[in-house]
Amino acid sequence: MKSKKETMQGVAVVTGAATGIGAAITERLAEQGMHLVLVARDGARLEAAAKRLHAEYGAQVSTLALDLSQQSAPARLAKWLTGSGTEVDVLVNNAGASLMGPVANSDPARLRGLVNLNVGAMAELTALLLPAMVARGRGAVVNIASTGAYAPAPYVAAYAASKAFVLSFTQAVWAETKATGVRVVAVSPGPTDTAMNTRHIPGKREPGSVADTVMSALRSRGPAVVDGGLNGFQTFVFGRLLPASLAARIAERSLRRAALGH
Ligand SMILES: NC(=O)c1ccc[n+]([C@@H]2O[C@H](COP(=O)([O-])OP(=O)(O)OC[C@H]3O[C@@H](n4cnc5c(N)ncnc54)[C@H](OP(=O)(O)O)[C@@H]3O)[C@@H](O)[C@H]2O)c1
Repeated sequence: MKSKKETMQGVAVVTGAATGIGAAITERLAEQGMHLVLVARDGARLEAAAKRLHAEYGAQVSTLALDLSQQSAPARLAKWLTGSGTEVDVLVNNAGASLMGPVANSDPARLRGLVNLNVGAMAELTALLLPAMVARGRGAVVNIASTGAYAPAPYVAAYAASKAFVLSFTQAVWAETKATGVRVVAVSPGPTDTAMNTRHIPGKREPGSVADTVMSALRSRGPAVVDGGLNGFQTFVFGRLLPASLAARIAERSLRRAALGH
């Protein structure tokens, strides 16, 4: 994974792999010559994606239908990988869920499911698969965060907080593993045109553009967080310049209409 011309080898595990950003990432990885393990809940959709990736790129693709918000799911995935003798070179923690609306009106079980998926599964899969990479002295973990990670975001409170965890966790693990040969990086996209985000937002990115950012993040030995797109200024202002209380009040105004309709 050193020069731009070099192809990638080995096996990548991608969660949330059949739609949106995850599907675009699998496309790029297969194109580069990687074999894949696709994970999400909808097994039929994964199978269809696997067939397409095999037909188009000759990639060997396995699928595993798992609800990663279930507490036992990350361990089941790791057990399946060990059982099938699969050595993982790249882990992409991409599966994520969002929940819009005031916390006071939220279904507590759905809120818990979001945290289990965005935070719990991401952290547990990292901890499960990282040791073998460190032992081999190579490999990569890419965690998909969000520009929502940088400041409190009313009406998507749990989502933004979960992505703040992704960001902080990844930055810390990046520092822990910097000298090991393993690349740990967070990619922090802004609004991207997928099923998760159907709102009309100027400057929205295509999933393929986020996948390109993921590929350059994988190839570089650079920073712990790669934003991509034109989000740097916004995240600097909201995440670093403004006090969190002011950032939250501004965000409340801009998200109120989308969340409450007024
Ligand atoms: N779209 C944006 O504006 C945006 C911006 C910044 C960051 N992101 C992040 O990008 C990542 C991908 O999202 P996306 O925008 O591509 O949305 P998406 O198309 O809705 O993709 C989400 C993926 O996660 C899978 N998934 C959802 N719940 C799951 C669960 N409980 N267990 C296993 N898999 C599950 C879904 O597949 P199944 O339904 O089959 O499980 C789907 O493949 C997420 O982490 C999201 O937070 C998105």
